[in-house]
Parts: sequence; C-alpha cells; structure tokens
Amino acid sequence: MSVDPSVETGAGTPPSIEFDHYTPEYRDNWREISDTNLSKCPVAHSSTYGGFWLVSDYASVSRVIRDDATFTSTHNMEDPEDPRQGIVIPPNPMLQVPMEFDPPLYNVYRRMLNPYFSPTAARALEPFVRQAVDAFLDKVCATGRMDFVLDLGNPVPALATMKLAGLPLDDWQTFAEPMHGIVSNPAGGPEYLRCMNALQQLGGALGALVPRLRDEEADGLLSGLAKATVNGERLSDGEIVLIALLVMQGGVDTTTALLSNTLWWLQDHPEQRQRLIDDPSLMEHATEEFLRIFTPVPALARTATEDVVLGGQRMRAGDRVLMSFAAANRDPEVFDDPAEAKLDRFPNPHTSFGLGIHRCIGSNYARSWFQIMLRGVLDRMPDYTIDRSAARRNDSIGIINGFVNMPATFTPSEPRGVELPA
Ligand code: HEM
Repeated sequence: MSVDPSVETGAGTPPSIEFDHYTPEYRDNWREISDTNLSKCPVAHSSTYGGFWLVSDYASVSRVIRDDATFTSTHNMEDPEDPRQGIVIPPNPMLQVPMEFDPPLYNVYRRMLNPYFSPTAARALEPFVRQAVDAFLDKVCATGRMDFVLDLGNPVPALATMKLAGLPLDDWQTFAEPMHGIVSNPAGGPEYLRCMNALQQLGGALGALVPRLRDEEADGLLSGLAKATVNGERLSDGEIVLIALLVMQGGVDTTTALLSNTLWWLQDHPEQRQRLIDDPSLMEHATEEFLRIFTPVPALARTATEDVVLGGQRMRAGDRVLMSFAAANRDPEVFDDPAEAKLDRFPNPHTSFGLGIHRCIGSNYARSWFQIMLRGVLDRMPDYTIDRSAARRNDSIGIINGFVNMPATFTPSEPRGVELPA
C-alpha cells in the first residue's frame, strides 16, 4: 500500500489496496484489517470487483450514508453499464425495494412500511417470540445438547418474520434456506447464485398469493401491501414480492448472527455472562455493544453521483463506494477503547443499523428478538459450552458476519411444555 501525504485537496495519488470482503482472509482477520485501514488509509481505492472506494473511518462513513444526493442507493437493473448498481458490491441480481431507491420516491415507500416496524408493532409480537423461544428450547433442553444456530438462532427470527409478513408459519424453512445460502457465500459465486435463483422462484410463489390478498382481510405486511397505494397507484404484484423478500432477507440471519457471536464471546468471558444473568437491566446497553463489536452487516455500498472529495480523496461521479460499518465501529475517534466490549457503554452511536434515511427499519424487532433469545439461553442453559471445533463460520462474511452452525452442551433440564405458536 502507498499513501501520498499531499492528498488534502484530493489531488494526490490515492492509497490503493487490494480489499476483498468475501475472502477467508477477511473473515478470519476482519478486526485487524479494519484497524489497519482505519489507521493507515481510512479512505482508500481497491481494484477488486471493477474498482471501488473503501471507506473505513466513522466521519466518512457517516458523511456517505447521510448524503444520499451525492451517494445514491439506486440500482439500475436495466442497464449494467450504468454505474449506479445499488448497495452490494458486486451488484445483487435482484432489486431490493425500497432499499435501492432514493428520495423522493423512497420516502413514500418508507412511510408506508414504517407502521409495520414501529416499537408498538415489535412489542405486540413479543409474546409470539417468547413462546417460539420456549418451544424450541423445550425440544432440546432435556438432552443437554443443542445447536445455537440450527435449533434457535435460525428458526426464531425466521418464524417471527413469517408472522410479521403474514405468511404460513409452516413454510419458514422453505424461505429461510436460500437466505442462509445467500448470506454465507461470496456474492456472485455459484452457491450464492443458486440460492438467489431459488429465492426468485419463491418470489413467484409469493406473487401467486397477492391477487387473493387484494380484497381479502388478512393480518400481516403482505396483506397490507396488497391494499396499499404509492402516489395514488396500487403496488404491482412484482413490487409487493420484492418488498416482502427484502423484509425476509433483513429478518432472517441478521439477528441470528448477532446471537451466535454473542454466545461465542460470552463463553470466553464467563464473568460477563454471569453479570448478564444477575443483572437483567444491563441487557439494553449490552445489546448495543454486541451490535457494535460484531457488526452483523459489515458493509454496504453507494455510488457517487458527482465528483466529491472525501477524507482527502477525490472521487469521481460514478465511482462505487463501500462503507465499512465494521471498521467505523472500531474508530478510536468515536469509541474509547474500541477493541474492548464494555457492556454498559453509553452513549454508543454504532453504525450497525446504518445511520441515514435507510437506517434499518427492522431494528425494533432485531433488538427484541435478540434479547428474548439470549435471555432464554441464559435462563435455561446458563452453563453452556460451545464445541468450538465443530462450529462453522459463514464461508464468507461479506454480507453477514455469522455462523452456519454452533453445537453446544449444557446441564439438562425439564421441558416447560410449550408448543410452537400457530
Ligand atoms: C441485528 C440485526 C440487524 C442488523 C445488524 C441490520 C442491519 C441493517 C442495515 C445495516 C441496513 C441498511 C442501512 C442503510 O443502508 O443505511 C438495514 C436495512 C434494512 N433492514 Fe435491517 N438489520 C437487522 C435486522 C433486521 C430485521 C429483523 C428486519 C426485518 C424484520 C430488517 C429489515 C431491514 C429492511 C427492510 C431494511 C431496508 C430499509 C430501507 O432501505 O428503508 N433488518 N438493516
């Protein structure tokens, strides 16, 4: 890497790096790589994936994500020559509605979706989520062994997302399986594309449900979307499907990743595990700190719409820009002792849900689901031990930094007799 010291005006040679967020090297060393980039080249140009700027420091990530006029989320699916290729590098083969829209159209969609994701809506779902957690833990508690990902972290958020979408609960696995494949493999690779294809087919099945929902009264987001209007027009079947698939992609795997990383960390920090067991009031701040130190969605992209100087580097209109939330969350300018997890850290302005207008709409659900799942484990299997040699990280963490599976053992206990919610 070479750094030109005369870059204040963006006139110098930009620092250039070979950064690939899908490699095993990044998966295994993302903290060290983020820290090096932060200290040596907070805004650097990478030649991978056709070239993009990697933005690591908090101030620059914050600037990019809040200035949606200069850094667009738009994805022009019709024209692959158009540099505006959305929020994933390399581009996602499916449009993410409305995540890959800009204002003013974006605002209309977000206003329409907001009521389904409010704090009140998240609270209303909590009894369902508690019952699901109890029922899934009932299935394994007497055996003294479980898999934190396969038996809890995957099914609970998937079931809760089906519930909020208003889809048949029995189908949760059909939807969740391709999502897991998409987030745990390198974007654009064969497994990722196979799962994308499966998801598109599921989209076809969802689309077939929409005409009936247009007139019928039913609970859930899908039914609401079938009756909603945008600028006086009803949403098309295709748009409804794309919104539903985005919500499911957001709902599945993200909270799972937060839970699995947290359980892994608590194994190394038994005194912190005991603190959380003894003092439930710690949970709120601890959740934010786990979000910060694990950053389940490590990075997302934008495209520059005009020439702009950022962090001393001159970007050109059409340049792709990858915001490293993982690095920004470790910026010592904002966080004291950023490498250390302090469960009572406050304030904690982490970037894990984004910061600008697209800030995670599911954050109320995410916090609630995570806390109910973690509380369930700490109550019912407080002495758990993860079998680290058998646990497997995602092959790639470019999209989600999580685990594929995580077997554990614990002192067996009696089931509570709770059935899965219907
Ligand atoms: C720990 C869990 C989660 C994390 C870390 C997370 C992270 C994020 C991030 C970083 C963004 C993009 C922000 C941006 O581009 O500015 C986002 C957007 C989004 N998330 Fe989440 N998310 C989580 C949970 C959820 C859940 C549970 C749902 C749904 C139930 C969800 C649905 C969405 C949707 C629909 C968007 C697009 C919002 C928009 O463009 O308006 N997310 N999330």
